[in-house]
Amino acid sequence: MNPLRILCLAHPDLVPPDNMEELSEKEAYVWKTEYDVMKTLQGNGHEVRMLGVQTELSPIRDAVENWKPDIVFNLLEEFHGETLYAQNVVSLLELLRVPYTGCNPRGLMLARGKDLSKKLLKYHRVPVPAFAVFPIGVKVHRPGRLKFPLIVKSLWEDASLGIAQASIVDTDEKLAERVAFIHKRLNTPAIAEEFIDGREIYVGCLGNDRVQVLPVWELSFSNLADGAHAIATEKVKHDPIYQEKRGILQGPAENLPPNVVTKIRALAKRICHTLELDGYCRIDFRLSKDNVPYFIEANPNPEIASSQEYAQAALHAGVSYADLLNKIVAFGLKRAGVEV
Ligand SMILES: Nc1ncnc2c1ncn2[C@@H]1O[C@H](COP(=O)(O)OP(=O)(O)O)[C@@H](O)[C@H]1O
Ligand SMILES: [Mg+2]
Repeated sequence: MNPLRILCLAHPDLVPPDNMEELSEKEAYVWKTEYDVMKTLQGNGHEVRMLGVQTELSPIRDAVENWKPDIVFNLLEEFHGETLYAQNVVSLLELLRVPYTGCNPRGLMLARGKDLSKKLLKYHRVPVPAFAVFPIGVKVHRPGRLKFPLIVKSLWEDASLGIAQASIVDTDEKLAERVAFIHKRLNTPAIAEEFIDGREIYVGCLGNDRVQVLPVWELSFSNLADGAHAIATEKVKHDPIYQEKRGILQGPAENLPPNVVTKIRALAKRICHTLELDGYCRIDFRLSKDNVPYFIEANPNPEIASSQEYAQAALHAGVSYADLLNKIVAFGLKRAGVEV
């Protein structure tokens, strides 16, 4: 790939220092994604400019108009602190007619709501857990068809915000308590889903109209506390010490019957297509004890630090991290009709 000018958008707190060699692993942890992307794109020969944005649109516009990047690498996950606004920044990039990496705004919108994505997918015969949504300010009433145990989550926040062992409830009283907790702590509606007891499966997808499905990946828990459920809580996702203590590992999903692997891969493609996802995304499933892959959520623009699931699955498929980032850039350019 020819050297490009790449404008990388991130949260201002996540614009990494130029050099992190001196920092401990713990200190560097917060910038791991942004630093990996910046350094690796530079290593690929590109000129990379990091831009921290959160409350002002004019810096984006100015940088696009004055510096004329070939493409914007979008690492932004919120604007004004609102996850729901992330898609609007991508819409602005479209209106500015600048190519960008990752998912288009329609896909971001369809995937964001944990209810909307499931409604659309059910129509296309993708297995989804039964669910109900509980808006703020409305008394919690569980529909009779929704059976315990349930897991209670925010309707649209991610990164496992608000997800802990207490999210899994088995009585109406606990359900109401946990719904109130989500309303209060995250200020979003809550969704309660049928709890799928089983394996946690991730599938990376890469591409626009034709999607490359990466090897089926699994988050496994080898040393959980007695009675704890194997779910990706906040601690499981973000606390390296806890991960070590509880034997939480990610790697290729082993010993899956071949027909189940085929099914999961086909579903992942159908999901990308239905939710209009492009660029790169990760689809999360729970595999029930009888091997039915239930769709849990789609993550457009997933975490792409080199050490994390997506990049590791790509590596397993023979795509190095440097190549992965160049491919992500190339898909952004191709969508915009730029020859690569
Ligand atoms: N219906 C479900 N059944 C079983 N586990 C679930 C279910 N929904 C969520 N989980 C667990 O909670 C984690 C976080 O839920 P998810 O919907 O992916 O939220 P987030 O967007 O915060 O990642 C999942 O990775 C999974 O471990
Ligand atoms: Mg998730």
